[in-house]
Amino acid sequence: MTGISFHEVSHTYRPPRSAPTLALERVSLDVREREFLALLGPSGCGKSTLLYLLGGFLPVEAGAVTVAGKPVTGPGPDRGIVFQNFALYPWKTVRQNILYGLEKQRLPRAERERRARELIELVHLGGFDNSYPAQLSGGMKQRVAIARTLAVDPAILLMDEPFGALDAQTRALMHEELLAIIRRTPKTVVFVTHDVREAVYLADRVAVMSARPGRIKEIVDTGFAGEKGPALTGTRAFADKVEHLWDLVRGEAILAQTRRD
Ligand SMILES: Nc1ncnc2c1ncn2[C@@H]1O[C@H](COP(=O)(O)OP(=O)(O)O)[C@@H](O)[C@H]1O
Ligand SMILES: [Mg+2]
Repeated sequence: MTGISFHEVSHTYRPPRSAPTLALERVSLDVREREFLALLGPSGCGKSTLLYLLGGFLPVEAGAVTVAGKPVTGPGPDRGIVFQNFALYPWKTVRQNILYGLEKQRLPRAERERRARELIELVHLGGFDNSYPAQLSGGMKQRVAIARTLAVDPAILLMDEPFGALDAQTRALMHEELLAIIRRTPKTVVFVTHDVREAVYLADRVAVMSARPGRIKEIVDTGFAGEKGPALTGTRAFADKVEHLWDLVRGEAILAQTRRD
């Protein structure tokens, strides 16, 4: 059971030396088991805040966040998170970074090594086991971060603009790899992005957020569940869906720009 529910969730940041910011206002949202949901909205609308509340990295102050009916009270092995900036240990090799994810599990050493090998193959990094992050390209680093998160086989995968720093070609490859991984080991995915095409391509449903304070403006079914693949992006149906979502996000992006502080 991995159904996720946000019920009237608000969140205010209270920095010690500046005015409070209402980042989220009464957000209600359900994510179904094994669904791929994209959170789409302009910069500063509260996407990361929503994801961190679900990850248990921020306390839920107003409203309720539940996973399988239980309130989230902190991070847990059921929810793996991939950050935008990779968050790898620069002094550990690819293998060691992935093993780190496995250390918290009480597995025999040989079993951990076997899992690490499997994960390195899964993200196509065979031969780079002993490389350090500084020796890898952006796409390779992000693959290590994904492998480390997948190491504990979380039922829920949280991704915060994971491919935002990658060039377009690498990003397209990573999209295919992510979809392949999820086909092999189905998961509930909450994927944060400000990229309309990325949201339409990857997600089953796209939750469009309003400019700050973040609210859910509309939830759009993409309807492409069974036909994911590079050919999809060239179809009329795909272009229409992207256009429709652009119409929803455009106004919010303009608002976010003019309200910049
Ligand atoms: N630690 C923090 N302290 C104060 N304000 C914050 C903090 N983190 C985020 N914010 C503010 O909360 C709002 C939402 O932030 P965030 O969730 O990071 O948005 P997004 O991920 O959509 O870009 C933004 O206006 C941001 O400036
Ligand atoms: Mg963010």
